[in-house]
Order: sequence, then structure tokens, then C-alpha cells
Amino acid sequence: MNNNTQTIQWFPGHMAKTRRKIAEQLKLIDAVAEIVDARIPVSSRNPDLKEIIGDKPHLILLNKCDMADERATKKWIEYYKSQGIYAIPVDCKNGKGISAFKDTVKTVLADKLESYRAKGMVGKPLRVMVVGIPNVGKSSFINRIAGGSRAKVENRPGVTRGNQWFSVDKELELLDTPGVLWPKFDDNTVGEHLAFTGAVTDRIIDTELLAMRLLEILIPMYPELLEARYKISEFPEDSYDALCLLGKKRGMMIRGGETDTERAANMLLEEYRNCKIGNITLERVE
Ligand code: G4P
Repeated sequence: MNNNTQTIQWFPGHMAKTRRKIAEQLKLIDAVAEIVDARIPVSSRNPDLKEIIGDKPHLILLNKCDMADERATKKWIEYYKSQGIYAIPVDCKNGKGISAFKDTVKTVLADKLESYRAKGMVGKPLRVMVVGIPNVGKSSFINRIAGGSRAKVENRPGVTRGNQWFSVDKELELLDTPGVLWPKFDDNTVGEHLAFTGAVTDRIIDTELLAMRLLEILIPMYPELLEARYKISEFPEDSYDALCLLGKKRGMMIRGGETDTERAANMLLEEYRNCKIGNITLERVE
């Protein structure tokens, strides 16, 4: 887990500052590329982004698609399309899908490019702000697309110092999120889903409770994956009993013949986060 996420405090001043910084930079950019986690496309979004960016052209990168359920990712892309938003699946760890980014930006900004052409403004690079909540993969994306050197664009007039601009090539420049973008942290489900994926620390959340909640979602959604991984075809209805059965199957027993549920919980969360159970999307379009 990214250690930065463990120390982030979501206090109102912090959020106001990011909101102001993003708003200030909007005039310098042509589009916003929002990175979301393909496994939890709802919980990994910032609830206020639409309002902050207004009518700035917007595209979505469904990142970590290597760990998500491909069928669900396709449905999400169709859904965004129905909302008039271009979305592409990417895997910034391995670089898959990244090559589609530039063309998608050009498609989203087709009108702008046409007007540049009409005015004879050739060679003006498109500028895109990359936004996303912590741990969603912003740095991985920028590293992938702007190259290992993360070639910085320096000395631009009017650009606030400290902002991170990166040049992809002559046609495209990226601006990293100015500030820290918050998730919808006041929603329990969102908090749980972020904790399942490891995007927020689970130190403050009871591990056994978290694992039980994950089982409650996985048992009806992915019974075949659970059966293949744990050789359990039918789980007890009670999620604590289900966790006990899981631990028992793995021989995680303590004195007195009881299951070590803490170990079982850690094992389940670790196996889910490392995609050992399979490709799973916890949030569906419907
Ligand atoms: P951020 O800037 O938005 O905070 O996110 P960052 O790029 O630091 O990525 C957070 C974690 O997610 C990193 O793992 C990173 O490797 C991983 N990650 C990013 N994109 C993808 C992806 O498409 N697929 C997969 N499987 N993982 C991805 P980490 O555990 O913090 O570090 P490490 O594993 O890279 O050492």
C-alpha cells in the first residue's frame, strides 16, 4: 500500500485548498482525465469533481483493469458513453491500454483541434489535467505515458510554482492533480470499498469485520471464483460463520478447535487485493 494514503487527513481546509487549486488551473488546460479504479468505479471517484470542473471536456481512465472483471469494465465503458463521456480501460502497472489515451484526448477535443487548425495555430500542445483520489494510479499513469524521466515542463508563464507539468510529446502536456483529491469519505460503503482494495488503511477498521463484509459481497457475486480458490461450494449464511469456514479450510485453527478468524480475515483481504481470487469488480453499473 502507498504509505502516503495512511497519513492523509480529510479536513475541510484541505479540501477547500485542492478545490481552489484545481479551479485556478482550469483556464490553463483543455481537458480533465479522471483516473478511477476499475474494481470500484463508484467509490474511487471524487464526489465534487463534476461541479469543480464544470463544462471542461472530461474523459475517464478505468485503471487497474488487470485486476477488474473484464465484462464489468466493458459495461462501465458503455455506461459512460451513454452519459457522453469517453472512457478507456488501462493497466498502468503493465502499460496496457495507455496507447489509446492520446487518440481519445484528440477525439474528446476534436472541436478545439479543428478551431486551432482554422486559426492556423499549429503545434500548440493539448493540455490535460490528470485527477484522481490517492492510490488510484496517477503517478503510475504519468510515469508510463510521460516516460521514466517524467520530463518536466519548466518556466511556463502564469503557471503556479510547484505544479507538476509533464510533457508527453510535442502535442500533449499533462498536469498532475494540484492538491489531494478526496473520495466520498462520509459514505460507509465507499469507505469499506476503498479499504477492501487497500486504497485507505484498514488499521482503523476492524479487519475481521472488513473481511466479513467482503465475503457478504463476494459470495453472491463471484461464487465460482470462491469455489475454485477455496473449494467451498456453499457458504453459511452468517458471514462470521463463512469466515470461520474459510479459515478452517486453510487449517487456521487455534487451541480449543476454534478458527483463527483474524488470520483468516487477513488472508482473504490479502488474496483479494493481490487478485489471487480472480478478476473482481465490486461495483456494477446497475
Ligand atoms: P497515486 O499516484 O494515484 O497515489 O497512485 P500510484 O501511481 O502511486 O499507485 C498506487 C498503487 O497502485 C501502486 O502500488 C501502483 O503500483 C498500483 N497500480 C497503479 N496502477 C495499477 C494498475 O493498473 N494495475 C495494478 N495491478 N496496480 C496498479 P503500490 O503497492 O503502492 O506500490 P508498488 O506495487 O508499485 O510497489
